[in-house]
Amino acid sequence: MSLEQKITSDVKQAVSALYGIQAEDQQIQLQKTKPQFEGNLTVVVFPFVKAARKAPQMVAEDIGKYLCELNNSIVLRYNAVQGFLNLVIAPEFWLHILQEIDNNADYGTLPNNGHLMMVEYSSPNTNKPLHLGHVRNNLLGYSIAKIQEANGWKVIKTNIVNDRGIHICKSMLAWQLFGNGETPQSSGKKGDHLIGDYYVRFDIEYKKQIKALVESGMDEDTAKREAPLIKQAQQMLLRWEQGDPEIRQLWQTMNSWVYAGFDETYRMMGVSFDKIYYESQTYLEGKKEVERGLEEGKFYRRADNSVWADLTGDGLDEKLLLRQDGTSVYITQDIGTAKLRYQDYPIDKMVYVVGNEQEYHFKVLSILLDRLGFPFGKELVHFSYGMVELPNGKMKSREGTVVDADDLMQQMIADAKEVSKDKVNKLADISQAEADEIARKVGLGALKYFILKVDPKKNMLFNPEESIDFNGNTGPFIQYTYARIKSVLRKNNEEINLCADTQLNDKEVSLIQLLTQFTQVVKQAGDEFSPAVIANYAYELASAFNSFYHDYSILNEEDKNIRQMRLTLARSTAKVLYSAMVLLGIEMPERM
Ligand code: ARG
Repeated sequence: MSLEQKITSDVKQAVSALYGIQAEDQQIQLQKTKPQFEGNLTVVVFPFVKAARKAPQMVAEDIGKYLCELNNSIVLRYNAVQGFLNLVIAPEFWLHILQEIDNNADYGTLPNNGHLMMVEYSSPNTNKPLHLGHVRNNLLGYSIAKIQEANGWKVIKTNIVNDRGIHICKSMLAWQLFGNGETPQSSGKKGDHLIGDYYVRFDIEYKKQIKALVESGMDEDTAKREAPLIKQAQQMLLRWEQGDPEIRQLWQTMNSWVYAGFDETYRMMGVSFDKIYYESQTYLEGKKEVERGLEEGKFYRRADNSVWADLTGDGLDEKLLLRQDGTSVYITQDIGTAKLRYQDYPIDKMVYVVGNEQEYHFKVLSILLDRLGFPFGKELVHFSYGMVELPNGKMKSREGTVVDADDLMQQMIADAKEVSKDKVNKLADISQAEADEIARKVGLGALKYFILKVDPKKNMLFNPEESIDFNGNTGPFIQYTYARIKSVLRKNNEEINLCADTQLNDKEVSLIQLLTQFTQVVKQAGDEFSPAVIANYAYELASAFNSFYHDYSILNEEDKNIRQMRLTLARSTAKVLYSAMVLLGIEMPERM
């Protein structure tokens, strides 16, 4: 039983015996005791004042006395400050709880809740490599999935790849016209970068054509429409839609290059998917669903043949679902994807990790899916997040250039190697391979932690230099704390046994109390969909350990019981730090 559970149950017993109040768990308000008072946990007694017909101070005194005198009491002393009852918890209880944490290999994991949550994240288009915005998306999506898994959900991580449309036709066309048969093999380029380069090439050549047309006297809008390249791209899209074998073949080849490239990026980032969906396989399903909705009178057709949903009853406007020519729009694809996903999995909760510029889109999607009878539609979660940018510096080479995800990760690892080289070189018999592994974990840990500790709603600036600092609220600081603990544990050569009557100092008690909060923190992070809650807890825990370790030694402690208790404390701290970082997708080096 956790400390909070035990005190809650004891306080319920107290108010029942003292005042005849049958309190609910939620009425028992507990908080960490403020540092200016003696105590570990504080009971707020105001909810009982009325029924007790006594002043708050008296109520606090009554309950405090009762809790101390209880059989199996875990309260050593108390003090009452107006309506606040500050409790000092007995050392035996702290030791008991520490033992429980130390024994529990799954500490911080809540029991299976029997429900399935699908988390969609990443969802790139196939015409470009992943960039910094995708990095934030992928890290958030992966972490949310991990956190919900720890909260007892069965989680399916998914991705929808937008693999068809005019954007990929532009890359294909530029490759046909200017590529001279270039392949990832022939050029040594990653496939997604290669395709991205042709997308850029299309744009350059297209702009040249527009310029020439404007110079010959055409107005700009007409030039944009009439430029031969855009007409060719549209022609290609049409041929794609008709299933033209030559175009389909080219499309498949080029997309397969992109996927090989994406896979490499995902692997490096440490994210993965249980099932990937492709827009080319879902958009026709979407059309069918819209047509079903039309037959059932949920949507309507206009005189020009286009199909619409009337959302005015929901406080929104009217939404186009199929164009005049019967072709589908972005949201139609999402309806089809939802349908296929629901055929594949009994989804109870659907989460979309997508940037905040699409908030309207997901409001509409929620209403449409609900209307079409998808049980998860109404309560779908759009996990919306803000923009991320880099300060101007070495990564942001040209004005307006997006930061490439692969380059960013490489740069982080290179920076980590540089920053940690003094520390790492001091390690005994370290091989180059191990040093490289440490740099990889630290570089990526820095990146991930810095992005995940921020409230996802906020726009943010990713500062590479700040993120690698070993002393701040950073990933490397937590990794370093962990590695230090592991080094102590490696040097220890006695078996660790916790003795039930060992003295505890304040720092040790604070540390145990923080450890007891981990399950609650995991739950809060799940309820709030917040990796930041986990990140900030891990930082607090690492700081508390460092503060303890700064003042007291572990292996050099003479008293055997105290030494063993500290070893247990260190081992549990390492375990909880490790588990917390797993929830953020951050790997921990065993030494650094
Ligand atoms: N590929 C889209 C884009 O780059 C994002 C897709 C988001 N997910 C979705 N189910 N609509 O804007």
